[in-house]
Amino acid sequence: MSTRAPAVEARQLIKTYPGGVTALNGMDLTVGAGTVFGLLGPNGAGKSTTVKILTTLARPDSGAAKVAGHDVLRHPDRVRRAIGVVAQKSGADPVATGRENLLLQGRLYGMRGAAVQRRADELLDRFDLADAGTRQVKGYSGGMQRRLDVALGLVHRPEVLFLDEPTTGLDPEARTAMWDEIARLAGDEGLTIVLTTHYLEEADRLAERIAIVDRGRIVVEGTPDELKGELRGDAVHMELRTDADRAAVTAALTGLPGVYEVLAEGRRVSVRAEDGAAAVPVLLGALDRAGATVAAATVARPSLDDVYMRYAGRRFSEAEAADAQQTPATVAAGGAR
Ligand SMILES: Nc1ncnc2c1ncn2[C@@H]1O[C@H](COP(=O)(O)OP(=O)(O)OP(=O)(O)O)[C@@H](O)[C@H]1O
Ligand SMILES: [Mg+2]
Repeated sequence: MSTRAPAVEARQLIKTYPGGVTALNGMDLTVGAGTVFGLLGPNGAGKSTTVKILTTLARPDSGAAKVAGHDVLRHPDRVRRAIGVVAQKSGADPVATGRENLLLQGRLYGMRGAAVQRRADELLDRFDLADAGTRQVKGYSGGMQRRLDVALGLVHRPEVLFLDEPTTGLDPEARTAMWDEIARLAGDEGLTIVLTTHYLEEADRLAERIAIVDRGRIVVEGTPDELKGELRGDAVHMELRTDADRAAVTAALTGLPGVYEVLAEGRRVSVRAEDGAAAVPVLLGALDRAGATVAAATVARPSLDDVYMRYAGRRFSEAEAADAQQTPATVAAGGAR
């Protein structure tokens, strides 16, 4: 464990947007210096709002936060000098070249002369953009643009880098390349990285610690292995032929030997079992006797989705679908930079 002071400490952040949406509802967060921390949550969970407050782009209604030792409300200028931000939506100027974008960003941070030129070239090299550096950004692929965004966040050598959904919208190949890049950044220079994502796999792979965010607060926090380790046994997911009576299904499965945590919703029934494979025939028999026919059954080792299910009471995909119905797409104007 590091003995350095935490890079980020947020206490009881509350933020309500005009119109009454409570984006943050008691957000608590501690990120150790030099670690990669993942804020994992479905659409609308409050990830970007958290990042905006920690990067001084928004003010909380109440609560307090320190980043790199500086209070975000009392010393926003100090915080800004200590951090790099890669917003959910790109902030690069599309009609400027990659190199021009980097030079401009460096100058905004007071870098001058040969030093800023050197830094721009170093970053173009590092992010595999050396050849593209003299081309306009609007001609870049999604992966190239995102790499430039990260480079822009690093120009002034920040202590803490915030990456808001660094890989959303990238194809799998570009996503894997970005993961390698982030892992490399984390390995160098003791940089602290706070990244938000709604990819379970991304959080699992990159983050030393993960906080699962749901409805504006952290529902659980720990290392990926700790979180998965909290779930005993296997998950058994079953799909019924027709919608079943929730109470009848729950009653039929509750109390079967080695079976616990029964969840029934529409056609989907999930349980946890000491030994998933051994439990399947027992579960099918019990459901059959309750008048429900199983169309498909799968056994899975615990995943972060299961952790989310346990703490948020719904599946990740369901949470995302629910938010999409409630929130007009135009509200997601997440890109302030
Ligand atoms: N400027 C705004 N005005 C009004 N409501 C907002 C604004 N920004 C965000 N919200 C709402 O606040 C809630 C949290 O939004 P936020 O952008 O922090 O979520 P998120 O976790 O980043 O989601 P996503 O994964 O979609 O980026 C959502 O319900 C969203 O619709
Ligand atoms: Mg967001």
